[in-house]
Amino acid sequence: MIDLLRSRRSIRRYAQKAVESPVRDILIEALLRAPSSRDNQPWEFVVVDDRALLKRLASAKEHGSQFLDKAALGIVVCADSRKSDVWVEDCSIAAILVQMTAHSLGLGSCWIQIRKRKHSATITSERYVRKVLGLPAHLKVEAIISIGFPAEQKKPVPQSALKYDKVRLNHYANPYSGPASRKAE
Ligand SMILES: Cc1cc2nc3c(=O)[nH]c(=O)nc-3n(C[C@H](O)[C@H](O)[C@H](O)COP(=O)(O)O)c2cc1C
Repeated sequence: MIDLLRSRRSIRRYAQKAVESPVRDILIEALLRAPSSRDNQPWEFVVVDDRALLKRLASAKEHGSQFLDKAALGIVVCADSRKSDVWVEDCSIAAILVQMTAHSLGLGSCWIQIRKRKHSATITSERYVRKVLGLPAHLKVEAIISIGFPAEQKKPVPQSALKYDKVRLNHYANPYSGPASRKAE
């Protein structure tokens, strides 16, 4: 897992190649294996591979969603907020797990934030997505995870770039100075 974490980057350019059903099914399995508070599983997912729908979803926001147009899949992460007061956390965990699973299968992915974002001055991204996909009114939309075969290569973030000063040991006054291997660099 640490090797996958070390090499994962957000991928926004995709080859025009479909994700076949067996791979898609593994991604769906990863979503449904996510842990959730009290095992409430408040989430619901819409897995989109229809090109016309992906194109429409790509304009869910003015910025930061257009690359969905070229993705093989968009996984729309939704939740019934009546089922859990921590649905945002539950959805986020499912989303990152499917991103890591995609990476483990040689696919690239990127998170597209929908919750609290706007499609235009008067329409929220959530409302736009709800209309495109015919989602029922009670479903919240957290994000769309775009997935496809990478058409860009990104370098892993080097360990030297990690912000170890964000970590404290035991007491806030006690900063973590990084792993021993880093000190030797
Ligand atoms: C909560 C969240 C929301 C994000 N929203 C977007 C988005 O709307 N569009 C986008 O292109 N990237 C989005 N990203 C991806 C981040 O920009 C990306 O993870 C960050 O720049 C670090 O780059 P890396 O993933 O390659 O390490 C989002 C990531 C997270 C965790």
